[in-house]
Amino acid sequence: MAKAPVRVLVTGAAGQIGYALVPMIARGIMLGPDQPIILHMLDIEQAAEALKGVKIELIDAAFPLLKGIVATTDAVEACKSVNIAVMVGGFPCKEGMTRKDVLPKNVPIYRAHASALGEHAAPNCRVLVVANPANTNAVIFKEFAPSIPEKNITCLTRLDHNRALSQIAVRLNVHINDVKNVIVWGNHSSTQYPDASHATITTTSGEKSAGELIADHHWLQNEFITTVQQRGDVILKVRKLSSALSAASAACDHIRDWLIGTPKRTWVSMGVFSDGSYGIQPGLFYSFPVTCQNGNWSIVQVFRYFYSLTWPIIMLSTMTGLKIDEFSRTKMDATAIELMEEKSLAYSFIDQQ
Ligand code: NAD
Ligand code: LMR
Repeated sequence: MAKAPVRVLVTGAAGQIGYALVPMIARGIMLGPDQPIILHMLDIEQAAEALKGVKIELIDAAFPLLKGIVATTDAVEACKSVNIAVMVGGFPCKEGMTRKDVLPKNVPIYRAHASALGEHAAPNCRVLVVANPANTNAVIFKEFAPSIPEKNITCLTRLDHNRALSQIAVRLNVHINDVKNVIVWGNHSSTQYPDASHATITTTSGEKSAGELIADHHWLQNEFITTVQQRGDVILKVRKLSSALSAASAACDHIRDWLIGTPKRTWVSMGVFSDGSYGIQPGLFYSFPVTCQNGNWSIVQVFRYFYSLTWPIIMLSTMTGLKIDEFSRTKMDATAIELMEEKSLAYSFIDQQ
């Protein structure tokens, strides 16, 4: 029996990422080749004509999975009954502006979108915030959508995760599918910490750690990290526009893994509401390694085994986080500090509203 269509909202759909993302969704790249879609696209009045153009092209592309299109500049109409919301729309970071300058502009936008989704989305709607500063826009979103549980609100760091996987695959000249379990910790910004210390590579003689195969540990602790941290700026410099196709593709990867599940013994990076895991302040939207099952994410924990010291001696196990060395700890904390600063700045603007 054919599946019922899923309603997917893309805000900022007339923009660059939107233009790359909506055909991917309509082709089944986000939710699979047998999942019919009804696309909801929202943009602002000034982009209404461009949005109309995207709708016409979607019709002309004759996507078999695309069962309907709602293209509108009305947030309430856009949010009605949506199951998934990909929040790409936001105030653009113009030349000379910092991420912090964008925050006060995003508060009213995220307030309006969060309220509309909170009131009109389908129950259990999943939200992915892409627009920058993504982690802190997620904080603002959560504040104004109290009916949407925090476990349903996430932000995009999958692009950074994919960048990190690719850097290792290129370095080792292996297939991208053979590299897994890198981690991007923290903020989707230049303070993020791309961490290869738990990454593994599938080889003909079994699974090896990245540290075992990459003898140059200096590269892993320096160039690897800065390349991933600064990748967005490099793209901006050469394209004169920020990343779009890779961001759209990462958004599809994020939602697909969240809803369909991560492969066995594989984790991905997602910006999620911190519960205090790994010593990260609760309430931050921080990028952690997560696994996903049955439409839910959980922060990676591993079993540790130990022996009871009383007779009879038995082996016990407990769930605890991955091992974090001092190098990682410092970098994880630095990006958390930036997120705390962004969060309090966001609240100072929220309080002024
Ligand atoms: P863009 O400027 O091309 O598109 C943004 C769209 O949002 C525009 O069409 C604009 O009209 C629309 N918009 C603005 N205000 C809106 C509102 N109130 N309601 C609905 N739509 C609104 O930008 P882009 O290149 O598509 O990038 C979008 C965002 O994604 C930027 O903030 C960018 O920095 C961010 N980004 C994030 C990642 C990530 O990995 N998290 C990666 C790349 C880009
Ligand atoms: C990226 O990582 O490519 C983008 O977030 C850069 C940006 O500022 O839009």
